Amino acid sequence: MTAFCNALSMSFPVGEQFFIDAVREGAKHLGNSPEHQALRETVRGFIGQEATHRHLHGLYNAHLEKQGLINHWGPRAARRLETGRRKMFSTSEKGHLHELAITAAYEHFTAIFGDLTLENPGQEGDWFAHAEEPLQTLWRWHAAEESEHKCVAFDLYKALDGDHRWRMRWFNYVVLQFALDTWRQTVNNLWHDGTLFKPSTWVSGMRFLFGRHGLVRRTRVPLKAYRREDFHPLQVGDTRLAAQWLSSHADRWKAVGAA
Ligand SMILES: [Fe+2]
Ligand SMILES: [Fe+2]
Repeated sequence: MTAFCNALSMSFPVGEQFFIDAVREGAKHLGNSPEHQALRETVRGFIGQEATHRHLHGLYNAHLEKQGLINHWGPRAARRLETGRRKMFSTSEKGHLHELAITAAYEHFTAIFGDLTLENPGQEGDWFAHAEEPLQTLWRWHAAEESEHKCVAFDLYKALDGDHRWRMRWFNYVVLQFALDTWRQTVNNLWHDGTLFKPSTWVSGMRFLFGRHGLVRRTRVPLKAYRREDFHPLQVGDTRLAAQWLSSHADRWKAVGAA
């Protein structure tokens, strides 16, 4: 779980900058209708939240580096993105929609993970129950904000007439790429901290993936839901969890943000 979360953190500075760029570019194509104006407002909020996340995870990642871990995911994602922009996004008239579809797909992942991070606090299935502070607060705060802004990229894609076919193509790509990237970086982190070949690592890994409160079981329904043509992010998860956590921990997450 630690190696997995560290891997996710390593992807955030590049990933979240990409999301910011994608929604900022997408918002330029909005019109002046009241709906589009309202969407523009949510884009502003989204950019503010993601910019703070990437900054804090950059600090977090600097600590990981000091511990001897090596971030391969971030540079690999940056190279892939550069190729994508050169060969497709910046040469296509619909390039902004491709970037938004990719962002919406990743945002679906972060929203699912966000919901799971806030579910069952202190009970069985609470992945962060034993995480030390301030990491527990950092992850739950990030999770709550991901849940809060989970509709922005999706709504923007829809408002700009993004179609279902491409939304699915990019979702399939993101599912594969995300699974592969997460796996590679998690294994690499375990290798560097010397725990890759410990049986207890694999037991806890199997439990985290396939156990009663494991990742596979808890993500199956919301991942499948994304494939529906009439899907909307508000149909899955419970945004009240995020609101509750943010209001009941306002003293703590403000302190983290300010730092
Ligand atoms: Fe984020
Ligand atoms: Fe996000």
